[in-house]
Amino acid sequence: MPQHVYIQDLKNHVGEEVEIRGWLYNKRSSGKIKFLIIRDGTGFVQSVVVKSEVPEEVFEMDPPYESSVIVRGIVRADRRAPGGVEITVKDMEIVQEAGEYPIPAKVRESNIPDVDVLLPRRHLWVRARKQWAILRIRDEIEKAIVDFFYDRGFTRADPPILTPASVEGTTTLFETDYFGKPAYLSQSGQLYLEALAMSLGKVYSFGPTFRAERSKTRRHLAEFWMVEPEAAYFRLEDIVDLAEEFVEYIVQRVLERRPLELEIMGRDVKKLERIRRPFYRITYEEAIERLKKKGMNVEYGDDFGADEEKTLVEDFDKPVSIMFYPKEIKPFYMKIDQEDPTKVRNFDMLAPEGIGEIIGGSEREDDYDKLLQRIREANLPVDVYEWYLDLRKYGSVPHSGFGLGVERTVMWISGASHIRETIPFPRLLEKIYP
Ligand code: 4AD
Ligand code: MG
Repeated sequence: MPQHVYIQDLKNHVGEEVEIRGWLYNKRSSGKIKFLIIRDGTGFVQSVVVKSEVPEEVFEMDPPYESSVIVRGIVRADRRAPGGVEITVKDMEIVQEAGEYPIPAKVRESNIPDVDVLLPRRHLWVRARKQWAILRIRDEIEKAIVDFFYDRGFTRADPPILTPASVEGTTTLFETDYFGKPAYLSQSGQLYLEALAMSLGKVYSFGPTFRAERSKTRRHLAEFWMVEPEAAYFRLEDIVDLAEEFVEYIVQRVLERRPLELEIMGRDVKKLERIRRPFYRITYEEAIERLKKKGMNVEYGDDFGADEEKTLVEDFDKPVSIMFYPKEIKPFYMKIDQEDPTKVRNFDMLAPEGIGEIIGGSEREDDYDKLLQRIREANLPVDVYEWYLDLRKYGSVPHSGFGLGVERTVMWISGASHIRETIPFPRLLEKIYP
């Protein structure tokens, strides 16, 4: 029996007879010759069935799309083929003949996704070539995240998901019943990471985050993954430096290790190759000026929505960090700037090509009295933050951190048109099936 080989390794088996175990992705036939696209999770390969070269019953096999099949044949080098090889089929076996596939090939390959057909069939949609490519890019980004922080001496420390209080405002909390009392799904592990940074120095978390956001946009999910570093003795400038190095690293890793997937996405890689430091940094005030000049209807003190961010990034071919926002539009934990106490020492990093905010971060308020005052001003219950205030009583130090949204980053790098395609099973406004 020929050796089982994964499609991604076929290039090392040119001239050999091999076995591929996968699914029939696509097919076309022209009389005496059939072209089958087989996928096996590691890639796609064209398999050619020639009538005169296979037994009659093999040529007559006509399994529907997505049938599971085992194909045996000779690996041939072919420079035009994606992956550089194709298979000349000698034998084929149908493992299970699929029923009529609920996602027609046309819908599956279309650049404009028919979401009414696709979203309720996400469990099958994930098999489509582009969805496969996006999930492979996501995997590379996730590995790059872990490598980056590990290599720089950050300790991964996982904060809880069930929490008694909010971090990022009370309007987007998912409430649940915790032994008869209300608890909330975590919006951010930040407050816990601050405690952990006072033990471990440089820490990060990487996990799911929940926001009951009533927005139906191409960049909001109710459940998304966030990576959050937090470092003791880091000032704002240090954390912005780290964020820029981090984003450059992730982009370059995907370019280096996922070229086939980027090609399947039709991604313009030149735009990604440009993502090298230095990036851009501007103040909130300058951002407002720029928007006004471009005719946007904004006033000093406004927060930026998707439209403003899209307009702002038009001028930049690399990420831009917007720094020093008015304190009224930012959360209670951000440190007030000494030079201008109406501002906080924060940054939002916006990605180019219309993506907008991928990172939110800041230096944290490390003074007990000022923090207490900010909690009161925000009308938050002081008792549930007592432990957090404690951190300012026992060896308080300047410290800073940020959160990067993984799905927005995947969307930007992969070129996916909507955030719902960047996570295996998106949780969207009022949509939780499948
Ligand atoms: O700006 P945010 O709300 O920051 C925080 O949560 C801080 N506590 C993080 C920290 O400093 N440790 O969220 C950070 C990032 C955003 O920039 C965005 O990329 C992503 O999380 N994000 C979302 N992604 C998808 N869907 C949503 N509903 C998101 N909300 C935030
Ligand atoms: Mg933010």
